[in-house]
Amino acid sequence: MPRLQVGEQGCELDSAQPLLTALQQLGLPVRQACRNGVCGICQCPLLSGQIDYRQIQPRGLNQQELAAGRILPCIAYPASAELELGEPCYPAR
Ligand code: FES
Repeated sequence: MPRLQVGEQGCELDSAQPLLTALQQLGLPVRQACRNGVCGICQCPLLSGQIDYRQIQPRGLNQQELAAGRILPCIAYPASAELELGEPCYPAR
């Protein structure tokens, strides 16, 4: 089972659930709205590991956010045994 680490907190991941679900279960203050990769409000930095958007385009991220390594956990599924995310960050725009 893949494992997620966010700061001091960690948990095992259900590969059938998007990362947003795990962030909520950890009690992190992640924001959400569309839950389909459009609004960008849930974004957070991927520090290590791989994710899979399963053919959904992360339209809620602009080029700067993509270049900064941010992901959209509402549509991201684990694609490596271990993942590390930074704290969720509200988009600056
Ligand atoms: S909740 Fe809108 S992109 Fe994640």
